[in-house]
Amino acid sequence: MSEIQNLEFKNMLPGQGEAVHALVLKSVGAARGNGFTPPGRVAFERYASPEAIERRGSLGYSHELVYVSDALAGMIELKGPDRISMLYIHPDYANKGLGSRLIARAASRCAEADPKAKHMTVYATDDAVNFYERVGFVRNGSRKESGGVFSTPYRLSLKAKGKILSAKLHGNAVEFFVFTGTGNSLLVAQTVTEVLRQEGLSVQLGSMDKPCPEALSAESAIGLAFPVACFSTYPTVWRFIESMPAGEGREIFMLGTCGGVAVGMQGPLRKVLTKKGYKPIAAKFFLMPGNYNNKTLPVEKNAARVEKSLLEARSFAYDLLRGGTEWSGGIPMLSAFCYRLGQTRKPWNFFYKLFPISVDEGKCVRCKRCANDCPAKAVSMSAGTEGYPVINPALCESCQRCVGFCPAGALHVPGKPAEPYRAMRYEDFKTAFGQ
Ligand SMILES: Cc1cc2nc3c(=O)[nH]c(=O)nc-3n(C[C@H](O)[C@H](O)[C@H](O)COP(=O)(O)O)c2cc1C
Repeated sequence: MSEIQNLEFKNMLPGQGEAVHALVLKSVGAARGNGFTPPGRVAFERYASPEAIERRGSLGYSHELVYVSDALAGMIELKGPDRISMLYIHPDYANKGLGSRLIARAASRCAEADPKAKHMTVYATDDAVNFYERVGFVRNGSRKESGGVFSTPYRLSLKAKGKILSAKLHGNAVEFFVFTGTGNSLLVAQTVTEVLRQEGLSVQLGSMDKPCPEALSAESAIGLAFPVACFSTYPTVWRFIESMPAGEGREIFMLGTCGGVAVGMQGPLRKVLTKKGYKPIAAKFFLMPGNYNNKTLPVEKNAARVEKSLLEARSFAYDLLRGGTEWSGGIPMLSAFCYRLGQTRKPWNFFYKLFPISVDEGKCVRCKRCANDCPAKAVSMSAGTEGYPVINPALCESCQRCVGFCPAGALHVPGKPAEPYRAMRYEDFKTAFGQ
Protein backbone atom coordinates (compact mmCIF):
# COMPACT_ATOMS: atom_id res chain seq x y z
CA MET A 1 0.00 0.00 0.00
CA SER A 2 1.52 3.29 -1.05
CA GLU A 3 2.10 6.14 1.32
CA ILE A 4 -0.05 9.22 0.90
CA GLN A 5 1.65 12.57 0.72
CA ASN A 6 0.44 16.18 0.68
CA LEU A 7 -2.24 15.59 3.27
CA GLU A 8 -4.13 18.51 4.72
CA PHE A 9 -6.83 18.46 7.39
CA LYS A 10 -9.39 21.28 7.50
CA ASN A 11 -12.63 21.99 9.28
CA MET A 12 -15.67 22.11 6.99
CA LEU A 13 -16.76 25.67 6.25
CA PRO A 14 -20.32 26.87 5.58
CA GLY A 15 -21.14 26.30 1.92
CA GLN A 16 -19.10 23.10 1.62
CA GLY A 17 -22.08 20.78 2.22
CA GLU A 18 -22.42 20.13 -1.50
CA ALA A 19 -18.81 18.96 -1.90
CA VAL A 20 -19.04 16.77 1.20
CA HIS A 21 -22.32 15.29 -0.03
CA ALA A 22 -20.69 14.41 -3.38
CA LEU A 23 -17.82 12.70 -1.56
CA VAL A 24 -20.24 10.67 0.58
CA LEU A 25 -22.18 9.53 -2.49
CA LYS A 26 -18.98 8.42 -4.27
CA SER A 27 -17.90 6.47 -1.20
CA VAL A 28 -21.30 4.87 -0.64
CA GLY A 29 -21.55 4.01 -4.34
CA ALA A 30 -18.31 2.04 -4.06
CA ALA A 31 -19.54 0.11 -1.01
CA ARG A 32 -21.95 -2.79 -1.29
CA GLY A 33 -24.61 -1.11 0.82
CA ASN A 34 -25.17 -4.20 2.98
CA GLY A 35 -27.63 -3.66 5.79
CA PHE A 36 -29.67 -0.91 4.11
CA THR A 37 -33.35 -1.62 3.43
CA PRO A 38 -34.95 0.49 0.65
CA PRO A 39 -36.52 2.88 3.20
CA GLY A 40 -33.18 2.98 5.01
CA ARG A 41 -31.46 4.06 1.82
CA VAL A 42 -33.95 6.92 1.41
CA ALA A 43 -33.43 7.99 5.02
CA PHE A 44 -29.69 7.86 4.52
CA GLU A 45 -29.88 9.99 1.39
CA ARG A 46 -31.81 12.57 3.35
CA TYR A 47 -29.28 12.46 6.16
CA ALA A 48 -26.39 12.89 3.70
CA SER A 49 -28.00 15.70 1.68
CA PRO A 50 -26.00 18.95 1.40
CA GLU A 51 -28.65 20.84 3.38
CA ALA A 52 -28.72 18.29 6.22
CA ILE A 53 -24.93 18.28 6.48
CA GLU A 54 -24.84 22.09 6.57
CA ARG A 55 -27.66 22.16 9.11
CA ARG A 56 -25.89 19.76 11.45
CA GLY A 57 -22.77 21.93 11.09
CA SER A 58 -24.76 24.88 12.42
CA LEU A 59 -26.23 22.71 15.21
CA GLY A 60 -22.84 22.00 16.74
CA TYR A 61 -21.82 18.80 14.95
CA SER A 62 -18.19 19.06 13.82
CA HIS A 63 -16.86 18.08 10.42
CA GLU A 64 -13.20 17.55 9.64
CA LEU A 65 -12.16 17.09 6.02
CA VAL A 66 -8.97 15.58 4.67
CA TYR A 67 -7.47 16.70 1.38
CA VAL A 68 -4.83 14.93 -0.69
CA SER A 69 -2.99 17.34 -3.00
CA ASP A 70 -5.94 19.75 -2.68
CA ALA A 71 -8.57 17.12 -3.63
CA LEU A 72 -11.24 16.30 -1.03
CA ALA A 73 -10.46 12.70 -0.01
CA GLY A 74 -12.37 12.05 3.21
CA MET A 75 -14.63 13.39 5.93
CA ILE A 76 -15.58 12.67 9.51
CA GLU A 77 -18.67 14.04 11.26
CA LEU A 78 -18.92 14.00 15.05
CA LYS A 79 -21.86 14.57 17.30
CA GLY A 80 -20.29 16.03 20.41
CA PRO A 81 -16.66 15.16 20.98
CA ASP A 82 -17.05 11.39 21.10
CA ARG A 83 -19.78 10.09 18.73
CA ILE A 84 -18.84 9.42 15.11
CA SER A 85 -21.94 9.96 13.01
CA MET A 86 -20.33 9.80 9.54
CA LEU A 87 -16.96 8.77 8.17
CA TYR A 88 -16.41 8.48 4.44
CA ILE A 89 -13.33 8.17 2.26
CA HIS A 90 -13.30 8.74 -1.49
CA PRO A 91 -12.79 5.33 -3.22
CA ASP A 92 -9.63 6.64 -4.93
CA TYR A 93 -8.03 6.92 -1.48
CA ALA A 94 -9.55 3.87 0.21
CA ASN A 95 -7.31 1.59 2.32
CA LYS A 96 -4.57 4.15 2.61
CA GLY A 97 -5.07 4.96 6.26
CA LEU A 98 -7.05 8.19 5.89
CA GLY A 99 -10.02 6.90 7.89
CA SER A 100 -7.89 5.83 10.83
CA ARG A 101 -6.05 9.13 10.67
CA LEU A 102 -9.34 11.04 10.95
CA ILE A 103 -10.30 8.84 13.90
CA ALA A 104 -6.91 9.30 15.58
CA ARG A 105 -7.27 13.07 15.31
CA ALA A 106 -10.84 12.99 16.60
CA ALA A 107 -9.74 10.78 19.53
CA SER A 108 -6.98 13.24 20.51
CA ARG A 109 -9.42 16.16 20.32
CA CYS A 110 -11.92 14.19 22.38
CA ALA A 111 -9.35 13.37 25.10
CA GLU A 112 -8.28 17.02 25.16
CA ALA A 113 -11.84 18.40 25.32
CA ASP A 114 -12.92 15.98 28.03
CA PRO A 115 -10.11 14.37 30.03
CA LYS A 116 -12.71 12.13 31.68
CA ALA A 117 -13.95 10.72 28.37
CA LYS A 118 -13.55 6.97 28.26
CA HIS A 119 -14.63 6.04 24.75
CA MET A 120 -15.38 7.18 21.26
CA THR A 121 -18.48 5.49 19.90
CA VAL A 122 -20.01 4.70 16.53
CA TYR A 123 -22.95 2.76 15.11
CA ALA A 124 -21.16 0.87 12.36
CA THR A 125 -23.14 -0.10 9.29
CA ASP A 126 -22.41 -3.58 7.96
CA ASP A 127 -19.94 -2.40 5.32
CA ALA A 128 -17.95 -0.49 7.94
CA VAL A 129 -17.67 -3.15 10.65
CA ASN A 130 -14.37 -4.60 9.40
CA PHE A 131 -12.82 -1.18 9.17
CA TYR A 132 -13.74 -0.23 12.75
CA GLU A 133 -12.47 -3.55 14.11
CA ARG A 134 -9.21 -3.11 12.24
CA VAL A 135 -8.54 0.28 13.82
CA GLY A 136 -9.20 -0.96 17.36
CA PHE A 137 -12.93 -0.47 17.98
CA VAL A 138 -14.62 -3.16 20.05
CA ARG A 139 -18.23 -4.25 19.61
CA ASN A 140 -20.38 -3.38 22.63
CA GLY A 141 -23.89 -4.35 21.67
CA SER A 142 -25.93 -6.27 19.17
CA ARG A 143 -26.74 -5.42 15.56
CA LYS A 144 -30.05 -3.60 15.36
CA GLU A 145 -32.26 -1.98 12.78
CA SER A 146 -33.27 1.63 13.08
CA GLY A 147 -35.06 3.61 10.37
CA GLY A 148 -34.34 0.86 7.83
CA VAL A 149 -30.59 0.77 8.48
CA PHE A 150 -28.82 -2.07 10.30
CA SER A 151 -25.91 -1.08 12.48
CA THR A 152 -23.81 -2.41 15.36
CA PRO A 153 -22.53 -0.32 18.25
CA TYR A 154 -18.75 -0.13 18.56
CA ARG A 155 -16.49 1.83 20.85
CA LEU A 156 -12.86 2.78 21.00
CA SER A 157 -11.23 2.91 24.42
CA LEU A 158 -9.45 6.13 25.31
CA LYS A 159 -8.19 4.65 28.56
CA ALA A 160 -5.97 1.79 29.65
CA LYS A 161 -5.81 0.24 33.05
CA GLY A 162 -7.54 3.18 34.68
CA LYS A 163 -5.14 5.77 33.30
CA ILE A 164 -5.89 8.18 30.50
CA LEU A 165 -3.57 7.20 27.73
CA SER A 166 -1.14 9.91 27.03
CA ALA A 167 2.01 8.44 25.53
CA LYS A 168 2.08 8.89 21.79
CA LEU A 169 4.49 8.72 18.93
CA HIS A 170 5.29 12.15 17.56
CA GLY A 171 7.22 12.82 14.41
CA ASN A 172 7.17 11.14 11.05
CA ALA A 173 10.04 8.70 11.07
CA VAL A 174 10.89 5.50 12.91
CA GLU A 175 14.06 3.44 12.91
CA PHE A 176 12.80 0.01 13.85
CA PHE A 177 15.35 -2.59 15.00
CA VAL A 178 14.38 -6.23 15.09
CA PHE A 179 15.83 -9.46 16.39
CA THR A 180 14.17 -12.67 15.35
CA GLY A 181 15.04 -16.32 15.73
CA THR A 182 12.23 -18.04 13.88
CA GLY A 183 10.40 -15.05 12.40
CA ASN A 184 7.69 -14.28 15.00
CA SER A 185 9.10 -10.94 16.10
CA LEU A 186 9.83 -9.92 12.54
CA LEU A 187 6.27 -10.74 11.49
CA VAL A 188 4.79 -8.58 14.26
CA ALA A 189 7.25 -5.76 13.54
CA GLN A 190 6.37 -5.88 9.84
CA THR A 191 2.67 -5.58 10.67
CA VAL A 192 3.24 -2.53 12.88
CA THR A 193 5.48 -1.09 10.14
CA GLU A 194 2.80 -1.61 7.51
CA VAL A 195 0.26 0.42 9.51
CA LEU A 196 2.71 3.20 10.34
CA ARG A 197 3.68 3.46 6.67
CA GLN A 198 0.04 3.52 5.61
CA GLU A 199 -0.39 6.39 8.03
CA GLY A 200 2.32 8.32 6.24
CA LEU A 201 5.32 7.65 8.50
CA SER A 202 8.66 6.68 7.10
CA VAL A 203 9.82 3.45 8.77
CA GLN A 204 13.18 1.82 8.27
CA LEU A 205 13.70 -1.75 9.45
CA GLY A 206 17.12 -2.72 10.77
CA SER A 207 18.56 -5.89 12.26
CA MET A 208 19.77 -6.25 15.84
CA ASP A 209 22.26 -8.93 14.79
CA LYS A 210 24.86 -6.19 14.45
CA PRO A 211 25.56 -3.33 16.86
CA CYS A 212 23.33 -0.28 16.58
CA PRO A 213 24.44 2.37 14.06
CA GLU A 214 26.37 5.06 15.89
CA ALA A 215 24.36 7.86 14.34
CA LEU A 216 20.57 7.77 14.59
CA SER A 217 18.60 10.42 12.79
CA ALA A 218 17.70 13.26 15.16
CA GLU A 219 14.06 13.23 13.98
CA SER A 220 13.52 9.49 14.31
CA ALA A 221 11.70 7.65 17.03
CA ILE A 222 13.11 4.20 17.76
CA GLY A 223 11.29 0.87 17.72
CA LEU A 224 12.62 -2.40 19.12
CA ALA A 225 11.15 -5.84 18.46
CA PHE A 226 12.51 -9.08 19.87
CA PRO A 227 11.46 -12.36 21.51
CA VAL A 228 11.23 -13.00 25.22
CA ALA A 229 13.74 -15.68 26.08
CA CYS A 230 14.35 -17.19 29.51
CA PHE A 231 12.11 -14.45 30.97
CA SER A 232 14.53 -11.89 29.59
CA THR A 233 15.81 -11.71 26.03
CA TYR A 234 18.82 -13.02 24.14
CA PRO A 235 22.33 -11.71 24.86
CA THR A 236 22.49 -10.52 21.22
CA VAL A 237 19.55 -8.19 21.91
CA TRP A 238 21.12 -6.89 25.11
CA ARG A 239 24.41 -6.33 23.24
CA PHE A 240 22.51 -4.29 20.67
CA ILE A 241 20.82 -2.23 23.39
CA GLU A 242 24.17 -1.60 25.06
CA SER A 243 25.54 -0.38 21.74
CA MET A 244 22.75 2.17 21.22
CA PRO A 245 23.98 5.77 21.24
CA ALA A 246 22.63 8.39 23.66
CA GLY A 247 18.88 8.78 23.25
CA GLU A 248 18.83 12.60 23.34
CA GLY A 249 15.13 12.50 24.17
CA ARG A 250 14.11 10.28 21.25
CA GLU A 251 10.86 8.42 21.78
CA ILE A 252 11.22 4.66 21.90
CA PHE A 253 8.76 1.78 21.87
CA MET A 254 9.23 -1.98 22.18
CA LEU A 255 7.29 -5.02 21.21
CA GLY A 256 8.16 -8.42 22.54
CA THR A 257 6.88 -11.75 21.30
CA CYS A 258 6.54 -14.65 23.68
CA GLY A 259 5.21 -18.16 23.96
CA GLY A 260 3.22 -17.55 27.14
CA VAL A 261 5.13 -16.01 30.06
CA ALA A 262 6.87 -12.70 29.56
CA VAL A 263 7.45 -11.98 33.31
CA GLY A 264 8.15 -8.28 32.81
CA MET A 265 11.55 -7.72 31.26
CA GLN A 266 10.19 -4.42 29.92
CA GLY A 267 10.73 -2.96 33.41
CA PRO A 268 14.50 -3.32 33.55
CA LEU A 269 14.71 -2.42 29.86
CA ARG A 270 12.83 0.82 30.53
CA LYS A 271 15.41 1.70 33.19
CA VAL A 272 18.33 1.01 30.85
CA LEU A 273 16.82 3.09 28.05
CA THR A 274 15.81 5.98 30.30
CA LYS A 275 19.37 6.09 31.62
CA LYS A 276 20.59 6.35 28.05
CA GLY A 277 18.33 9.34 27.47
CA TYR A 278 15.45 7.75 25.53
CA LYS A 279 11.81 8.49 26.24
CA PRO A 280 9.97 5.15 26.58
CA ILE A 281 6.39 5.45 25.33
CA ALA A 282 5.07 1.97 24.64
CA ALA A 283 5.84 -1.63 25.51
CA LYS A 284 3.63 -4.51 24.49
CA PHE A 285 3.93 -8.28 24.34
CA PHE A 286 2.33 -10.48 21.73
CA LEU A 287 1.58 -14.14 22.24
CA MET A 288 3.04 -16.04 19.30
CA PRO A 289 3.70 -19.72 18.66
CA GLY A 290 6.29 -21.20 21.00
CA ASN A 291 9.30 -22.23 18.97
CA TYR A 292 11.05 -24.91 20.97
CA ASN A 293 9.11 -27.04 23.42
CA ASN A 294 6.47 -28.68 21.27
CA LYS A 295 6.59 -32.37 20.61
CA THR A 296 4.44 -31.87 17.54
CA LEU A 297 3.63 -28.69 15.67
CA PRO A 298 0.12 -27.50 16.66
CA VAL A 299 -0.52 -25.98 13.26
CA GLU A 300 -4.06 -24.71 13.82
CA LYS A 301 -3.37 -23.31 17.29
CA ASN A 302 -0.30 -21.56 15.94
CA ALA A 303 -2.21 -20.04 13.04
CA ALA A 304 -4.90 -18.74 15.43
CA ARG A 305 -2.27 -17.19 17.71
CA VAL A 306 -0.57 -15.48 14.80
CA GLU A 307 -3.84 -14.13 13.43
CA LYS A 308 -4.87 -12.72 16.83
CA SER A 309 -1.48 -11.17 17.52
CA LEU A 310 -1.22 -9.54 14.11
CA LEU A 311 -4.62 -7.93 14.69
CA GLU A 312 -3.38 -6.70 18.07
CA ALA A 313 -0.24 -5.43 16.38
CA ARG A 314 -2.35 -3.27 14.06
CA SER A 315 -4.23 -1.86 17.05
CA PHE A 316 -0.93 -1.23 18.81
CA ALA A 317 0.29 0.79 15.83
CA TYR A 318 -2.84 2.93 15.89
CA ASP A 319 -2.47 3.38 19.66
CA LEU A 320 1.06 4.62 19.04
CA LEU A 321 -0.27 7.25 16.69
CA ARG A 322 -3.25 8.49 18.62
CA GLY A 323 -1.75 8.27 22.09
CA GLY A 324 -2.99 5.07 23.60
CA THR A 325 0.09 3.34 24.91
CA GLU A 326 2.02 2.73 28.08
CA TRP A 327 5.27 1.16 29.21
CA SER A 328 4.71 -0.55 32.53
CA GLY A 329 7.37 -1.23 35.12
CA GLY A 330 7.55 -5.04 35.26
CA ILE A 331 7.30 -7.21 38.35
CA PRO A 332 9.22 -5.89 41.38
CA MET A 333 12.35 -7.95 42.15
CA LEU A 334 11.49 -10.80 39.79
CA SER A 335 11.96 -8.80 36.58
CA ALA A 336 15.27 -7.40 37.82
CA PHE A 337 16.41 -10.88 38.85
CA CYS A 338 15.57 -12.36 35.42
CA TYR A 339 17.26 -9.41 33.74
CA ARG A 340 20.49 -9.94 35.71
CA LEU A 341 20.43 -13.67 35.13
CA GLY A 342 19.88 -13.12 31.40
CA GLN A 343 23.07 -11.05 31.29
CA THR A 344 25.09 -14.09 32.35
CA ARG A 345 25.67 -17.29 30.35
CA LYS A 346 23.86 -19.39 32.98
CA PRO A 347 20.36 -19.65 31.44
CA TRP A 348 21.71 -20.09 27.93
CA ASN A 349 24.14 -22.86 28.95
CA PHE A 350 21.34 -24.53 30.87
CA PHE A 351 18.97 -24.25 27.93
CA TYR A 352 21.51 -25.76 25.55
CA LYS A 353 22.05 -28.65 27.95
CA LEU A 354 18.32 -29.32 27.99
CA PHE A 355 17.80 -28.75 24.28
CA PRO A 356 21.07 -29.35 22.42
CA ILE A 357 21.13 -28.98 18.64
CA SER A 358 22.27 -32.00 16.71
CA VAL A 359 23.50 -32.04 13.11
CA ASP A 360 22.41 -34.82 10.77
CA GLU A 361 25.32 -34.95 8.32
CA GLY A 362 23.37 -37.29 6.05
CA LYS A 363 20.78 -34.56 5.46
CA CYS A 364 23.07 -31.51 5.49
CA VAL A 365 23.49 -29.84 2.09
CA ARG A 366 26.39 -27.70 3.38
CA CYS A 367 24.76 -24.47 2.28
CA LYS A 368 26.29 -22.69 5.31
CA ARG A 369 23.05 -20.84 5.97
CA CYS A 370 23.28 -21.77 9.65
CA ALA A 371 26.85 -20.52 10.00
CA ASN A 372 26.25 -17.32 8.04
CA ASP A 373 23.02 -16.38 9.82
CA CYS A 374 23.83 -17.31 13.42
CA PRO A 375 23.60 -14.04 15.35
CA ALA A 376 25.88 -15.36 18.11
CA LYS A 377 28.55 -16.75 15.74
CA ALA A 378 28.05 -20.09 17.43
CA VAL A 379 27.96 -22.14 14.22
CA SER A 380 31.02 -22.83 12.10
CA MET A 381 31.72 -25.34 9.35
CA SER A 382 34.21 -28.08 10.11
CA ALA A 383 37.41 -27.96 8.04
CA GLY A 384 37.72 -29.59 4.61
CA THR A 385 35.54 -29.69 1.53
CA GLU A 386 33.11 -31.96 3.36
CA GLY A 387 32.65 -29.43 6.16
CA TYR A 388 29.53 -29.78 8.28
CA PRO A 389 28.06 -27.38 10.85
CA VAL A 390 29.54 -27.48 14.30
CA ILE A 391 27.72 -25.74 17.15
CA ASN A 392 29.67 -24.11 19.95
CA PRO A 393 27.47 -24.56 23.05
CA ALA A 394 29.44 -21.87 24.89
CA LEU A 395 28.21 -19.24 22.38
CA CYS A 396 24.82 -20.63 21.32
CA GLU A 397 21.81 -18.58 22.53
CA SER A 398 19.27 -21.22 21.43
CA CYS A 399 17.31 -18.74 19.32
CA GLN A 400 16.41 -21.62 16.94
CA ARG A 401 17.18 -19.64 13.79
CA CYS A 402 19.53 -22.31 12.42
CA VAL A 403 17.01 -25.04 13.22
CA GLY A 404 13.99 -23.17 11.89
CA PHE A 405 15.54 -22.09 8.62
CA CYS A 406 17.68 -25.14 7.72
CA PRO A 407 16.53 -26.02 4.18
CA ALA A 408 17.22 -29.73 4.70
CA GLY A 409 16.01 -30.22 8.26
CA ALA A 410 19.57 -31.25 9.14
CA LEU A 411 19.72 -29.22 12.35
CA HIS A 412 17.47 -30.61 14.94
CA VAL A 413 16.65 -30.54 18.65
CA PRO A 414 16.24 -34.18 19.71
CA GLY A 415 12.72 -34.91 20.89
CA LYS A 416 11.26 -31.94 19.00
CA PRO A 417 9.11 -32.05 15.86
CA ALA A 418 10.89 -33.29 12.77
CA GLU A 419 9.57 -30.22 11.00
CA PRO A 420 10.66 -27.28 13.12
CA TYR A 421 8.64 -24.11 13.60
CA ARG A 422 9.26 -21.00 11.52
CA ALA A 423 6.94 -18.04 11.04
CA MET A 424 7.95 -17.19 7.49
CA ARG A 425 9.91 -18.35 4.48
CA TYR A 426 13.68 -18.00 4.68
CA GLU A 427 13.65 -15.68 1.66
CA ASP A 428 11.26 -13.29 3.45
CA PHE A 429 13.45 -13.29 6.54
CA LYS A 430 16.56 -12.59 4.44
CA THR A 431 15.06 -9.73 2.46
CA ALA A 432 13.35 -8.02 5.40
CA PHE A 433 16.32 -5.82 6.17
CA GLY A 434 17.18 -5.07 2.58
CA GLN A 435 19.94 -7.75 2.42
C1 LIG B 1 15.60 -20.20 24.18
C2 LIG B 1 14.18 -19.75 24.25
C3 LIG B 1 13.67 -19.23 25.42
C4 LIG B 1 12.35 -18.82 25.49
N1 LIG B 1 11.88 -18.29 26.65
C5 LIG B 1 10.60 -17.87 26.74
C6 LIG B 1 10.11 -17.30 27.95
O1 LIG B 1 10.83 -17.16 28.95
N2 LIG B 1 8.82 -16.91 27.99
C7 LIG B 1 7.99 -17.05 26.90
O2 LIG B 1 6.83 -16.69 27.01
N3 LIG B 1 8.43 -17.56 25.73
C8 LIG B 1 9.72 -17.97 25.62
N4 LIG B 1 10.18 -18.49 24.44
C9 LIG B 1 9.27 -18.50 23.26
C10 LIG B 1 9.58 -17.32 22.36
O3 LIG B 1 9.61 -16.11 23.09
C11 LIG B 1 8.52 -17.12 21.26
O4 LIG B 1 8.31 -18.29 20.56
C12 LIG B 1 8.94 -15.97 20.35
O5 LIG B 1 7.81 -15.50 19.68
C13 LIG B 1 10.00 -16.34 19.32
O6 LIG B 1 10.23 -15.22 18.51
P1 LIG B 1 11.14 -15.25 17.21
O7 LIG B 1 10.51 -16.21 16.23
O8 LIG B 1 11.12 -13.85 16.73
O9 LIG B 1 12.49 -15.69 17.62
C14 LIG B 1 11.50 -18.92 24.35
C15 LIG B 1 12.01 -19.45 23.17
C16 LIG B 1 13.33 -19.88 23.12
C17 LIG B 1 13.86 -20.43 21.84
